[in-house]
Amino acid sequence: MREPIVFVNGLFWPQSRAQISVLDRGFTYGDGLFETLRAYRGVVFRLEDHLDRCSRSARLIFLELPMTRQELRTVVCETLKRNLLSDAIIRLTVTRGEQEPGLVIDPETPPTVVIHARPFEALPGYSYEKGVRVSLFHNSAPRVGGIDSQIKSCNFLSQIVLRERARKEGVFEGIMIDSNKRIADGTTSNIFIVKNGILKTPALTEFVLPGVTRQVVLELAASLNIPYGEQDLMVDDVYQADEVFLTNTGIEILPVRQADRQVIGAGIPGPVTRRLRAFFLKTFGVSS
Ligand SMILES: Cc1ncc(COP(=O)(O)O)c(C=O)c1O
Repeated sequence: MREPIVFVNGLFWPQSRAQISVLDRGFTYGDGLFETLRAYRGVVFRLEDHLDRCSRSARLIFLELPMTRQELRTVVCETLKRNLLSDAIIRLTVTRGEQEPGLVIDPETPPTVVIHARPFEALPGYSYEKGVRVSLFHNSAPRVGGIDSQIKSCNFLSQIVLRERARKEGVFEGIMIDSNKRIADGTTSNIFIVKNGILKTPALTEFVLPGVTRQVVLELAASLNIPYGEQDLMVDDVYQADEVFLTNTGIEILPVRQADRQVIGAGIPGPVTRRLRAFFLKTFGVSS
């Protein structure tokens, strides 16, 4: 396999020679942001939406991006090209850069930007044909203090621990519930339910990441005339749903067949989920 080429602060390196400092705040404090992007046939999916979220997150954590929007666009696409990839997952990471330990931010420190791409690997087909299982984790949704809505921060410890708990339970994803008992999102996914033909997803509170795929699904629902709402959802809404599915950049639209011990609907992917997924693939993808 060819060695991946990685962008680090303005230069492209073979992965084995790509380096950042041991004092990088992304490493010492998880002080940074990231985006996971998907390319279909050489085209980065919803690049502008990811860059919007990245810029917004940067503003919220007082981080000035060291590159213009156009520069970021160019290097994301260039990373894809240099790796000779067409169907790929691209990761853009921006950290606060190299600084002596201490929480105070030095505004003079240049941030670190790393972009790395790898071939896309789809989940096995049976995950989509049968649906996956999820566990609901009470009072687990993290939020960043003082920040009005979730940023996509490099500090993913909470999600990592929950994902491991989910894995130990033998399920695909852990669904986080906030301190108000509302369903938030998965460790790396947003959640949707369908009840009586209406598509519902948790409203964007400070606990819910505004997923790019979540937004795409709402747009697809609108064009298919599927009624939908963004609202508070509780545990019983999930248990009693006719259909449940997860979304993110990599899994696209993934049906859920069981939440905790509760079988969802008929225990197989339902008609709204299948319709949305088929439409998603027809519109954008080639992954299955
Ligand atoms: C906590 C969380 N929620 C939702 C998502 C889905 O976001 P997107 O659709 O932009 O991939 C992610 C993606 O990693 C995530 O980490």
